[in-house]
Amino acid sequence: MSEQAEIGVIGGSGFYSFLDDVTEVTVETPYGPPSDSLFLGKTGGHTVAFLPRHGRGHHLPPHRINYRANMWALRSVGVRQIIAPCAVGGLKPEYGPGTLVVPDQLVDRTKHRRQSFYDGEPLPDGSIPDVLHITFADPYCETGRQASLRAARSHGWEAVDGGTMCVIEGPRFSTRAESRWHAAQGWDVVGMTGHPEAVLARELELCYSSLALVTDLDAGAEAGEGVSHEEVLRVFGENIERVRKVLFDAVRELPATEERGCCCSTALGGQHPGITLP
Ligand code: ADE
Repeated sequence: MSEQAEIGVIGGSGFYSFLDDVTEVTVETPYGPPSDSLFLGKTGGHTVAFLPRHGRGHHLPPHRINYRANMWALRSVGVRQIIAPCAVGGLKPEYGPGTLVVPDQLVDRTKHRRQSFYDGEPLPDGSIPDVLHITFADPYCETGRQASLRAARSHGWEAVDGGTMCVIEGPRFSTRAESRWHAAQGWDVVGMTGHPEAVLARELELCYSSLALVTDLDAGAEAGEGVSHEEVLRVFGENIERVRKVLFDAVRELPATEERGCCCSTALGGQHPGITLP
């Protein structure tokens, strides 16, 4: 494939396009089709591939997204660093709509998602990946996190540095009791898509960080009716231009692929036992 990109941006609810001048690239993967085509363009001295996580028009709910195909597709066009915006609910009253959180921890409360390339399943070419237990103590790339934090601050948006994102299976929102329980654990925000993206990125030795925009106070933190999808889309829409500006600047700050100095790029010691990477 001739079209290549270094940086991936994965758009969430309400975020279906990023750059204006793009080349649309359709990618096949051994895991099936990704959510949509990749849209390749240039910004901040980098080539960027944008992927709308839910598909353009938002036809894929969080539990039906083919996360493995998405991450594989991005890697196959050359992507090695990903910034992944997503809509989240705030679990603390002070994290109201419009708060930007750059999480440093993650709790996986999903239930039925394929979250490894190393799950013993034979690949279409007949090869069987070895068993692999990846180190995942720090799920996000620190270089990417810092780039997003600096970019947000430069636009006068005081993003929250760190915090724990709880990822639920969805597609329903949490009950009030679940939400209160999540908050009582000390977790900060709750979303539906931040996992297994993060671990799949690590298995492919990709840098991955999240840009979590709070669109609502989750059920346990508010007194009203509970969260609605309309509210999530409306608030994301109100903040989309700010998120875009932060992304442009964050992308500019990222190092060239060959200059990555973080541990993500060597998470498997440069080996991918039993898998031939694209
Ligand atoms: N995405 C946006 N708001 C959310 C919430 N409250 N719970 C789960 N996912 C969300």
